[in-house]
Amino acid sequence: MAERRADPEPARVAVIGAGTMGAGIAQVALEGGWRVSLHDALPGATDRAIDRIRQGLTRRAEKAGRADPARSAADALLGLDVAPTVARAVGGAHLAIEAIVEDLEPKRKLIADLDGAAAPDTILATNTSALSVSRIAEAAARPERVVGLHFFNPAPVLPLVEVVAGRASAPWAIERATAIVEGWGKTAIRVADAPGFIVNRVNRPFTLEPLRLLRAGAATIEAIDAAIVAAGFPMGPFALMDLIGIDVNLAAARGLFEASGRPPRLRPSPIQEELVAAGKLGRKSGEGFYRYVDGKSAGPGQRFASRGGPGTGAGLDAGSIVERVVLAIVNEAYRALGDGVASEPDIDRAMQLGANHPFGPFEWARRTGVHEVTVMLDALSDEDADTFRPALPLLREARAGL
Ligand code: NAI
Repeated sequence: MAERRADPEPARVAVIGAGTMGAGIAQVALEGGWRVSLHDALPGATDRAIDRIRQGLTRRAEKAGRADPARSAADALLGLDVAPTVARAVGGAHLAIEAIVEDLEPKRKLIADLDGAAAPDTILATNTSALSVSRIAEAAARPERVVGLHFFNPAPVLPLVEVVAGRASAPWAIERATAIVEGWGKTAIRVADAPGFIVNRVNRPFTLEPLRLLRAGAATIEAIDAAIVAAGFPMGPFALMDLIGIDVNLAAARGLFEASGRPPRLRPSPIQEELVAAGKLGRKSGEGFYRYVDGKSAGPGQRFASRGGPGTGAGLDAGSIVERVVLAIVNEAYRALGDGVASEPDIDRAMQLGANHPFGPFEWARRTGVHEVTVMLDALSDEDADTFRPALPLLREARAGL
């Protein structure tokens, strides 16, 4: 249900930063019937965003079977205006969402500016995926109205929004922000302000564990990708990293590693560092783990057409590959639970909606049997204790079940 407002004015959101995410969020709000004031510091950025939003709205109208998709996109765009300043964007807005560059100081400055210019009950949200919402909020005189609204890319397509409560976020701000994004058709999941929130943390082993296997020569990229896809995941980890950009994935890995206090299990892979240094960024540069010709995969990159993997007699079999990757994710999920990041059902749902996993980590652990899971983790701990030493909440649960 869309949030009901007493005032006759249509609800308005200010979106600051008109890049990939700002444009996507603006589109979501327009589709939800809200008016949007869009602002970007870079000349030309809002024009490019409007083009992207128009294309996005047209595609969605086509899919919905509208008679005149271009017309309905143009109609929806009437709800958008470009604001020349931050103050103009936030004036009259019920909510402001910042989606500017992922650096703490510019975000803190922007939140302070928004806080100074906005009406007292305007909610201020950050779309940060790696920074602390609490630290951003501290820049505001009224930090209680600052929350995290973490949309996923592409925002118009992915249903999940992590609603992040900072240390000072007031319950009314969290509740209203939740109601607003639900009114836009999203699934809102509340999460504590901890590094990586749910999805970027719990899903980190989806790429890190395959990278460790690759580095150890335990399996090829194709064997790992094939095993993961056969287990029901929509994409293998190497194909996925190539799609989103190895530089983007590495930046997220580095951010989480640093924000979490540099635990060895979250250390970014040297393989990614090397690829990024060599300009091999994935699809967008023509080569990453795979080579691409005319946008289509044309086999592994030169470096990865190597030994190991099923069929060569040297590699892990598909079942063992999947087991290791899933166990690493499950263990991280239990760690996040122990850290109070979110509840079990919320973590399960977030992983399915935000990372497209075929099952939630707790659901998998229950199906497998928590005692069995601890035994499997214990066995792998001999090789890699940092990743596989069973998390405390899992051990407690297994013990309680004995
Ligand atoms: P982007 O680089 O595509 O867009 C950022 C935009 O902000 C640019 O147009 C830039 O000109 C503008 N900008 C920078 N500083 C500004 C300022 N002080 N005032 C006004 N405009 C300013 O970045 P992207 O990918 O859209 O990311 C934006 C935010 O969303 C970041 O915090 C990022 O971590 C977060 N995010 C990104 C996701 C992704 O997959 N790209 C997913 C989820 C969150």
